[in-house]
Amino acid sequence: MKKITITMAIAAMLSSTVALSAQQSSAVQADIDAYQAYFLDRFSNVSLQGFSKGPYAMSDDKMMQFEAVMEMPPFEDLLEKGGELWEKPFANGNTFSSCFEEEPFLIRAAYPRWNAAKGKVDTLEQALVDCLVSNGEKKWGTGKGKHAWVAAHLTTLGEGTFINVIVPEGDEAALAAYNDGKRFYYAKRGQLNLSCANCHVGGAGMRARGNTLSPGLGQTTHFPVWRGKWAKSKGDGFGTIQRRYGGCNKQVRAKPFKRHKSQYDNLEFFHTAMSNGMEITGTEYRE
Ligand code: HEC
Repeated sequence: MKKITITMAIAAMLSSTVALSAQQSSAVQADIDAYQAYFLDRFSNVSLQGFSKGPYAMSDDKMMQFEAVMEMPPFEDLLEKGGELWEKPFANGNTFSSCFEEEPFLIRAAYPRWNAAKGKVDTLEQALVDCLVSNGEKKWGTGKGKHAWVAAHLTTLGEGTFINVIVPEGDEAALAAYNDGKRFYYAKRGQLNLSCANCHVGGAGMRARGNTLSPGLGQTTHFPVWRGKWAKSKGDGFGTIQRRYGGCNKQVRAKPFKRHKSQYDNLEFFHTAMSNGMEITGTEYRE
């Protein structure tokens, strides 16, 4: 086990060296520093990594409830199914891993990322769908079900790797996509006229309709999540980050955007960059 851990650590170091070969835009780094400093100052009893626990990081009672659920996670069977689907050969004999350059445990932290050739943001969830198509398989529905299980499998394999979204210095198109995501995050919308930041920056730690609002910092370390609420309504409880974006747009009575189009892809690019330096925790339970 120890040997494996060391090999993994070396592989992770190598991969981060490669990622670092593109230098982070200084404007983006300034945003990240300010965003993180805001939360670290305001919640001085929570560590940077601690923010990944979202609403549970806001109170000891809530954290105890979370830890109790995570001792016997209600989603283990589905996570296992995600692993089986990841390994299962397509009709042409290839598997999902044939579509990725990275070792499986490095895939989660490699996304979202700027694709300079295509001039757009690539997300892991879209890469999974593209992989099905390029192998002549039928597309899956996105956001939940099988699609979310496979993504959750990769998130769980990625536990302990670090978020490191790079907006390359000097790449105007990458910066424009990032700024588009940033504008989305701070734009008020819906009948309630609230932005993501109103609830998850200014409102972090406060109560809203029976929920404790999670801090925006660390919201992307553990997706897809398994939610009790989703398990009770549509599907089996699993949902990707972009499914969650749709839910949060609906909460303010705004029409959600389609998943895996520029609006949510750029939002995911910005939103994930704000958590640079945080560890992927593996898939987690949420209420
Ligand atoms: C009216 C307030 C409100 C607004 C506006 C809002 N959210 Fe949320 N959001 C919530 C509530 C309530 C939850 C469930 C409790 C929690 O985790 O914060 C939540 C949960 C989330 C989660 C899940 C966090 C986790 O760890 O499970 C993410 C991610 C998220 N919101 C992102 C966004 C983004 C991005 C936007 C803007 C598009 C947004 N939210 C707008 C209220 C809001």
